[in-house]
Amino acid sequence: MKLIDIKSMERAELDGLLDAAESFLDPDGAVITPPHQQTMLNGKALALLFFEPSTRTRVSFELAAKRLGATVVRLGEEGSSLQKGETILDTCRNLAAMGVDGFVVRHSERDIPYVLAENLPHTIINAGNGSGEHPSQGLLDALTLRRAMGGEFQGAKVAILGDIIRSRVARSDAFIFSKLGAQVTLAGPSTMVPRANEDGWGDVRVTTSRDEAIAEADAVVVLRIQRERMSDARLDLDEYITTWGIDEEVLTHKMKDNVWIMHPGPVIRGVELSGAVADGPHSLIMAQVRCGVAMRQAILARGFAG
Ligand code: CP
Repeated sequence: MKLIDIKSMERAELDGLLDAAESFLDPDGAVITPPHQQTMLNGKALALLFFEPSTRTRVSFELAAKRLGATVVRLGEEGSSLQKGETILDTCRNLAAMGVDGFVVRHSERDIPYVLAENLPHTIINAGNGSGEHPSQGLLDALTLRRAMGGEFQGAKVAILGDIIRSRVARSDAFIFSKLGAQVTLAGPSTMVPRANEDGWGDVRVTTSRDEAIAEADAVVVLRIQRERMSDARLDLDEYITTWGIDEEVLTHKMKDNVWIMHPGPVIRGVELSGAVADGPHSLIMAQVRCGVAMRQAILARGFAG
């Protein structure tokens, strides 16, 4: 099984993974692992290869794998023979020779998961390839919103807000929400959004007005500014906060009463979201984190099926 991008996935595959993840959540949204699935990955070994920082994705894949009975090994650039010049593909071939059955990889270069997928017969999961995609995040976001909206979001309006062009989450979310029937609007400053009708974003609207994007939205996915991927780091942060930040004032006066606020994390409190909104009753942020473990159990169960 390869999970590289949402862009190339069919609706049936997405629905299948979302439905499978439901079996790893109880009705209150807590993560569960039914007894018959606690040993389903016994004898399997998963390598987590993270060459960019991560908290949620790395830990939730590790927890998900262990909850299903797999062994997990972790490798980053530091302390590995990648520092001596070995390629990631050769590293993976060596790990496979040791008995690793699957790889979860996060890397700043977009082509890395594609190279691994083309050259290895093993399970390959893209955990973020630069500003490319983050498919497991797209899936967990869709799972979270589907549950919050009662199991269906056909026709729902989803706004994705902030530093869009540098965000792999924006790309995976744009594809998955529109493939599942939502109307997606990408919104941000002109330097942070794609051009209208630009390839690579699917069926989306683009605006440079926060208030236009959020006025009718049923859910707003708020993004962090991706400073690590900015070539020109100049940014008037105060102006960004005023123009693009979501605080209680904006939430109360400019958004629908029943809007859901989402954020993939890490949240930079006081910049894209106020702490009160991040922790408030409209926020799905912790539900996203819980759904992340369930979704990754579903992905690994599918990845090692048979
Ligand atoms: N959402 C997300 O990818 O978070 P991490 O960078 O902490 O994994």
